[in-house]
Parts: sequence; C-alpha cells; structure tokens
Amino acid sequence: MINNEKDAWWKHGVIYHIYPLSFNDSNNDGKGDIPGIITKLDYLSELGVDAIWLSPVYSSPMMDFGYDVSDYYTIDPVFGTMDDFKKLLDEAHARGIRVIMDMIMNHTSHLHPWFLESKSSKYNNPKHDWYIWHNPRKGRKPNRWKSALGGSAWEYDKTTKQYYLHTFLKEQPDLNWRNKYMRKAFFDIIEFWLNMGVDGFRFDAINMIVKHAKLRNNPALFGIFRIKEKWSTRNQPYSYTVIRKMRKLFDKYEDAVSIGEIYAFPPGNPAVSASYLGCGNDMLDLTFDFSIVFRWWNARRYYNCIRNWYEHIPDNGWPSIVFSNHDLCRSYNRFGIGFHKKEKAKVAAVLLLTLKGTPFIYYGEEIGMKNTWIAKSQLQDPIGKPFWPFYQGRDMARTPMQWNAQQHAGFSSTQPWLPVNSSYVENNVEQQKEDKDSLYNIYKTLLSLRKEHKPLQAGEWEPMLCGKRGIIAYAREYDNEKIIVLLNFTASSKKARIHHTSEWQVLFSTHRQNAENVLLENMKLFPFEATVLNNETDQQ
Ligand code: GLC
Repeated sequence: MINNEKDAWWKHGVIYHIYPLSFNDSNNDGKGDIPGIITKLDYLSELGVDAIWLSPVYSSPMMDFGYDVSDYYTIDPVFGTMDDFKKLLDEAHARGIRVIMDMIMNHTSHLHPWFLESKSSKYNNPKHDWYIWHNPRKGRKPNRWKSALGGSAWEYDKTTKQYYLHTFLKEQPDLNWRNKYMRKAFFDIIEFWLNMGVDGFRFDAINMIVKHAKLRNNPALFGIFRIKEKWSTRNQPYSYTVIRKMRKLFDKYEDAVSIGEIYAFPPGNPAVSASYLGCGNDMLDLTFDFSIVFRWWNARRYYNCIRNWYEHIPDNGWPSIVFSNHDLCRSYNRFGIGFHKKEKAKVAAVLLLTLKGTPFIYYGEEIGMKNTWIAKSQLQDPIGKPFWPFYQGRDMARTPMQWNAQQHAGFSSTQPWLPVNSSYVENNVEQQKEDKDSLYNIYKTLLSLRKEHKPLQAGEWEPMLCGKRGIIAYAREYDNEKIIVLLNFTASSKKARIHHTSEWQVLFSTHRQNAENVLLENMKLFPFEATVLNNETDQQ
C-alpha cells in the first residue's frame, strides 16, 4: 500500500485547487470549463504543482454552483463533456499532474433521480429511506435544526406529508448514510471515477454526513462555542463508521488520496479534524484544519495553530496546510489587514510551502488575488443573497482568474459570470511572470525547491522560535540535510535569537542572495524577511 509509505505522492506533493467556473473559459460563455483548464495545464506544470483538485463538475442545476449534484456519472454541459474530462485526465497525467475530484456525500440536488423517487411516495418505496425524512411532531417541524442559511433545516413535502432534512439549501436534501443500499450505490459512484483513473477525492462536508438518530436538538445559539462537540448534526460516531467502510474501497486503489473537509466553527478544532485521520492509515489520508484561517496575522497565534495541529496528528498520519479556498475570504486580504499586504503574502507563501504537510494552493493565491466587492445585482452565491451587504457570501473569493491585462483579464472574451477584480490590470499572471520578485516567482521557486530537497517534503518539523517578538523559525531534517526557515512577521528588523554558531547557506530569501553564507547566531532579519537556509556547505 503506497498510501502507508512515507513516499506517497500526496505527502510530498502540492495540490492546486481550481474553482472550474472561474479558471479559464474556452467557449466564451463567461463561465470557465474543462477545455479551458486543459489549455492551462502547461501553466500549472511550469508552476510545479503535483495535483489539481477541481470543485465539482458533475451535472447540476447549479443552485450551489455544482455542490448540488443531479447526476454523479456525468459532466455538466457548462463544463464540457465526459470526453473533455477524459482528455483532462490524460493530458494532466502526461504532465505528471494528478486529478482530484470533489465528492459531495452529505446531499444531492433536489433534482437527483434518487430524490425524485424518494419523495414520490412514503410507502412501498425502497428509495424513500435514502434521504432523511421525518413526520411532523405535533404538527410542527421535527426539531430545531438550522440550515446553513439560518432558517429551519426541514422542508415540508406535500406528497409524503413529511419533512426532509437539508443542512444546506432546500434544493440540497441530505442523504441517509444509515441506509446500506444508498451507501452501496454511492460507493459505486466513487469506484466509477477511481476506475476511470481519477487520483482521489476531496470529500465535501464529510463530518456532517450523519445526524443524531433521535434528532436531539443542537445547543442554543449562545452555547455554540462552549459545547460545540455536542452538536447533533456533525461528527456523529456513525460518520466514522461510514468513512472506515469507504476506506476499504480506497485501499483497492493504491495511489488514490482521500481528503476530508472537516469544517469546525471558529476558532477551529484541530482535534476533530485529526480524529478523521483515524490511526493515520485507516480513515482519511488528509483532512483540513482551518484554525489559521480564523486568526489575524500574528506570529505567535500562527505558531500556536501550527503546533496544535501537529500535536493532534496521529503517529501514522499526515497534516495538510491550507490558507484559503472557495468558501473563505481570500488569504491575501486576511494576511494583509493594514499595511504591507505584499510582504505578508510572501512570508505566508514561504510558511505554506515549507511547513510539514501537504500544501493546498487556491487558484490565484500564487499571484495574490484579492477579494472582490460584488454589487447586489451581480451576486450569485445563495448563501450571500439574504445577508448582503453585511455578508456578501463567497463570490468575493471566486472571481475569474487574472491571466493578463486584456479585457476580462484574459479569462474570457465575454462578460464573466462574476466580475473580474479591478486589480487585474496591474496584477495578473503575465505581469508577475516577468517580475522576478513577484509572489508568483516565490511560489514557483519554492515549489521547485520542495522537489529538490527531501527535508521540505518529508522532514520532521522542529520548532526553534515560537512566534515571540514576531518571529517563527523551524528546522526540517531528513537524512543528512537540514533546512532552517526563518520568518519575520513584523515591519521592523529583528534579531532571531538562535544560538547556533555555524554558517549556513541561503537556499531562498525574500531579502538575500541565493548561496550567500550567513551566520545563524543572532541573525538580524529584515522587516518581513522570509529566508530558507540549508547546511549543504556545512554538514552539521
Ligand atoms: C462545502 C463546500 C461549499 C458548499 C457546501 C455544501 O462546505 O465547500 O462550497 O456550499 O459544502 O455542499
């Protein structure tokens, strides 16, 4: 089993997350598509990523932009055809890039044939139980569970005279994972794609797939943070059972990776995220911990999140590192609160790509794409619409990729489905490729360093400075090579109080020349300096 080995590709690889609607539009309908992704594979290969994860491309009425699937066996025409998808697999594999799909197990679309059948009748209907249905309680909703939109998670259906559960939109009915026939049908879907050659899945909202069987109410709003582990609609024991069953299926495909989206409320919950790794080889391969995402820029806070995350990873397990995705505010805005946005993004890039764990890059993160203010008339996200302007939803981080300074940022020749961020004229891939100090070139250089230096892929993580006075420093070591990373999170120059008399060589630095020799002892760091050193000249 390759997955259990230290060398599994996904342990040392870097995964690039594509939101297909916004990556590249090949047929000029304003929406990104699979042929568009294919034409950018050379870009991704040059950047040096090992895998791409695509947000869903299955057939969907697009109420939640693909996270509401009406047929898991077909590709939505917006994105192209099954032949286009197979071509993507071939072309990506030819370049050594793996392809990871999104898999939505918590719910389907309300237009999925399973749901249409499930709601057709309550009696003599084997598929009725494939979703979560309940009779009214005393003429009312079965309990007080809330959906992601804040209203009730129950929707009344006139035919069956019952309520069905929807954790997200009412057009996304929740599947019943306790039903073994549904489970089997779902596992067949997963096998279908793995047999086609897909290299793994990112499992959407996987900690929510099972709900409390007796419909116990969730804690009252003000109790959320105190007793969140008592939630009845997430992290239920049976969800671990389902994942273990799924793992058996995965074990037949030795190279396939399983990644779990484990969403925990702010401030994050690394213990829960890590619990889905099981013993490290019997549940999911990777899970997300979003603790850093909930913190403002601060070395000490970041250090604590990282340390906490590592402490919860089981012995055979492996961490992932993620700063942004299609549901969150763009990391560039979060890091850059106040001044020095560019400098902070560079320090963050070095952190992301040198920590122990599999890094995830969200499209556009490599050029520092920013949040986009979306006018009400242009808003698409169903979760944003009811709350605008207080909460705009997730569109702000899903705007078209900024390829060049041409109209619509080179994404499409027609008006895109979401507005392009106005910064595209001065901030785009073409311009950043030319600028040797750009964020893009930092990502590219670090991705190639990761390939050349085993400690950056597989080395243990040894903390040296824990964020006090604004500096994080750590070592990564593998065989005879040791790498030291120094990060100054602040706008002032700082002494890194490390007592180490030897000389080290600069592998990468935002402020120093490569191959320059430096003395580590009380090394003085420039403001926002990020430097990676190694001991190749001096075997310690
Ligand atoms: C996950 C996805 C999000 C989606 C939701 C419902 O959290 O990341 O985009 O809306 O699940 O599928």
